Amino acid sequence: MSVVLGIESSCDETGIAIVKNGTEVLANEIASQIDIHKVFGGVVPEIASRQHTKIISQLVDQVLKSVDEPIDAIAATQGPGLMGALMVGLSFAKALAYSWKLPFVPVHHIEGHLFSAFLGEKVPEFPFLALIVSGGHTQIIQCDQAHHYRILGTTRDDAVGESFDKVARLLDLPYPGGPSIQKAAVDGDPRAFDFPRAMRHKGNLEFSYSGLKTAVLYTLQEGEKDVADVAASFQAAAIDILLIKIKQAIHQTSAQRLVVAGGVAANQLLRDRITTELDVDVFLPPFKYCIDNGAMIAAAGHSRLEHGLTGDFSTTPNPSLSL
Ligand SMILES: Nc1ncnc2c1ncn2[C@@H]1O[C@H](COP(=O)(O)OP(=O)(O)OP(=O)(O)O)[C@@H](O)[C@H]1O
Ligand SMILES: [Mg+2]
Repeated sequence: MSVVLGIESSCDETGIAIVKNGTEVLANEIASQIDIHKVFGGVVPEIASRQHTKIISQLVDQVLKSVDEPIDAIAATQGPGLMGALMVGLSFAKALAYSWKLPFVPVHHIEGHLFSAFLGEKVPEFPFLALIVSGGHTQIIQCDQAHHYRILGTTRDDAVGESFDKVARLLDLPYPGGPSIQKAAVDGDPRAFDFPRAMRHKGNLEFSYSGLKTAVLYTLQEGEKDVADVAASFQAAAIDILLIKIKQAIHQTSAQRLVVAGGVAANQLLRDRITTELDVDVFLPPFKYCIDNGAMIAAAGHSRLEHGLTGDFSTTPNPSLSL
C-alpha cells in the first residue's frame, strides 16, 4: 500500500500525478506545450525545458493540495527523452524526496507507458505481451514479470507515432499528427490507395515505417489528391502492420494477455481492431493516460518501490536509457 507522486517531463508535457497502490489515480495534472511547439511543426528542446521549469512547482502544488493522503515516495522519468526536459523533472523529484526524507524512484519512460495499462478498469496480471506504440517507439515486449522485459521486435527506422506526425505534415494537417490524421480519415476511403505494409512477410517481429511515409510522399507528388482518402489509406496501412505483427507475436509466444500503450494506443481504429480481432485478453489504458502523463510514472514507481528498486540522489537523467 503506497501513495506515489509521479513526475513526467521527458518531452513536451509536464505531467504530475498522485496514484494510490499503482492503480488508483487520486490527482492528475498535465500541462501540454503543444500550442507553443505547433508553430515549429515539432518540439523545440530548449523551449520545452524552459516551459517545464516555468510550470512544474505550480502543478506539483496543485496536485498536493487536492489530495489529503500523505505521500510515500516520489517517482520521476529518468529517460529516454530530451536531456534538458528530463533534468527539470528529475531534479525536482530528487529535491522533494531529499527534503521530505522519502524514497526516490527513477522510472524508464516506456515502463511508464506500460504501467498506464494498470490505470484502467481492468488491471493486467503478469505475464503479458506488450505493444508499445508512441512518438518514439514501436516495440513488442515480452513481460514475464514486473521489471523483467524482453524486446521481441522494434522499429528499424521511424516509430509509428512519428510516421503519423510526418504524414500529417505532408498533408498540411496540424501537429500532433495522430489525432489530425484520425479526424481527417473519418471521411476518407481506406482502400483509395494501396500503401505498403512493410516487412509483413518477414518471419521476424521487426517494424519499418519510413517506406510508408515515402509512399505517401510519392503519391502526393503525382498531383492533387483527396486529403481524407490519403489519411484513411495511410492510417489503415499503419495500423494493419501493427495487427499483422502482434498476431504473429501472440502465435509465437502463446501469450494470453496483451497490453497496448503509448500515444498511438489512443487511435480508435487500433483500439477497435485490437479488441475485436485477437484471441487474448486485451488491456488498454484509458484515453487520457495514453499520451505522456505523471500517473503512469507513479504507477510504475509504485511497482518499483514494492520490488525494492529505488534510486539514490546520484541518479542522473539519461536521454537514451535502455529498458
Ligand atoms: N489518435 C491517435 N492516432 C494515432 N496516433 C496518435 C493519436 N493520438 C496521439 N498519437 C501519436 O502519439 C504520439 C505521442 O505519444 P507519446 O506521448 O506516447 O509519444 P512520446 O512520448 O513523444 O514518445 P515516446 O513515448 O516514445 O518517448 C504522437 O506521435 C502522436 O501523433
Ligand atoms: Mg511517451
